Amino acid sequence: MPASDVSLSDDEVVRLRAALEGYTVDAVVAAIGDEGHASLGRNHTLAAQRALGRRDDPLATLTRLFILQEAVPDEPVRRALPVDLLAAGGILGRDGDQWHARVDIRPYASPDDGADGWLVSDHAATLDTARGAPRPDHVLGVSPASTTLAQLTIRTPVERALDLGTGCGVQALHLAKHARSVVATDLNPRALRLAHLGLRLSGVEAELRLGSLYDAAGDDRYDLIVTNPPFVMSPPSTSHLTYRESDFNADGLMRAVVTGGAPHLSPRGVLQVLGNWAHVAGQPWQERLEMWVGGTGCDALVIQREVLDPYEYIEIWLADAGLAGTPGYLSAYETWLDYFDQLGIIGVGMGWVTLVNAGRDRPDVRVEEWTHAVEQPVGIALAAQLRAVDAARWSDDEVLNHAWLLTSDVVQETIGAPGAEDPAHIVLRQQRGLRRAVEVDTALGGILGACDGDLTLREIIAAVAQLLDVPTGDLIADVLPRFRRLVADAWFMHG
Ligand SMILES: C[S@@+](CC[C@H](N)C(=O)[O-])C[C@H]1O[C@@H](n2cnc3c(N)ncnc32)[C@H](O)[C@@H]1O
Repeated sequence: MPASDVSLSDDEVVRLRAALEGYTVDAVVAAIGDEGHASLGRNHTLAAQRALGRRDDPLATLTRLFILQEAVPDEPVRRALPVDLLAAGGILGRDGDQWHARVDIRPYASPDDGADGWLVSDHAATLDTARGAPRPDHVLGVSPASTTLAQLTIRTPVERALDLGTGCGVQALHLAKHARSVVATDLNPRALRLAHLGLRLSGVEAELRLGSLYDAAGDDRYDLIVTNPPFVMSPPSTSHLTYRESDFNADGLMRAVVTGGAPHLSPRGVLQVLGNWAHVAGQPWQERLEMWVGGTGCDALVIQREVLDPYEYIEIWLADAGLAGTPGYLSAYETWLDYFDQLGIIGVGMGWVTLVNAGRDRPDVRVEEWTHAVEQPVGIALAAQLRAVDAARWSDDEVLNHAWLLTSDVVQETIGAPGAEDPAHIVLRQQRGLRRAVEVDTALGGILGACDGDLTLREIIAAVAQLLDVPTGDLIADVLPRFRRLVADAWFMHG
């Protein structure tokens, strides 16, 4: 049976599910140890193997088969799993008198929203025990990018959610926690088969649809669309891996995902995309992104988290394809560099695009860079930021007549020469969310410190103006634009 023919009936899924009882994230980490777990994250299996030692109980057997990609003798496998039905269902394959797993089945648990279960994918091709290069329709397991998208997703309860490019189904597993119905699509039929198995094992209902981009979204409108699309910008001449690259030129697929999503959003619906974009010689990256999102009619928040130079970028993705150290490495590297040169790509930005179908005549578009560490799950802070858009558009009088309440996580840092009477810099810093920081002068610092939700901004400014012996009107003109910026950055409760 080809490895693509993974198929189990509902009854067989129930039997497999019973065998997986106890095969949880905590149990696996306890069995392989924290160091073994960390080493696996670096694609090495030896530390975990040594921690398991000679154990052949069901937990050790499942870990060896599915996570470490080891071949395991018949007897312990029969004690752990319904072997014959899994062999017939394309899950287990025979190696002489040993068994190996033809797919990766592993427990999943998120501390952020409690999503848990088991996910089915292809074996990680980068693991040191991997058997050869990934097939073109390789189904990726949970990756750092999957976790990043899950953490930036806004988890407000919604009716309908779409997981575009579901892969092993990890985003659908999360969405099912707060969406009444979930549609999960993929271009790769094998991804849908594996996602279907994982979601059934996890007791999660999702409608799985085959199709490219928004074709499979149908005429439905969604309150939330999330996607971690195949955004890698590789040369067309190379053979592509469906999970990471497409036939689009440069960042064309990413652009299509962003611009094509807006018509599928319900009123106030949100699209969240994790991906990358080209930095092209002679054009600021912000301008390109503003063009993408500007055409959607939606509010947009684009946050660039990191920029890689072409060499770093290409090296990462050549290694991901298992090409490092192979004879074809250098020529593949050169071909990729030539492709970037031809397109004028001088860097690659990685980040998050969030669109909101807010229905405004003049949508709010913000394109910015924020490369600092953030509090996870950052989706909570993004939701606050999007809510702040309304207040940031109030008239000056509305802003001045409101009693603002600074969020309770803000602290003040002062920097200056030792022994100096006054600090050279005063910085206010959020301890939570995006952990933004802003440098303030004495007046703005004093005003913000007094924003306790009791006095209006106008009253506070008047009091501070009196203390500093400056005209109130001058102080208003001085601080209001900066205050507005802080409102937009969600420094206030219910802003
Ligand atoms: C990087 S993986 C993300 C998988 C999963 N959503 C996650 O967060 O880990 C991208 C997925 O998009 C799928 N894909 C590739 N091209 C696509 C297209 N044109 N339309 C829909 N899905 C596509 C791939 O098969 C793959 O499953």
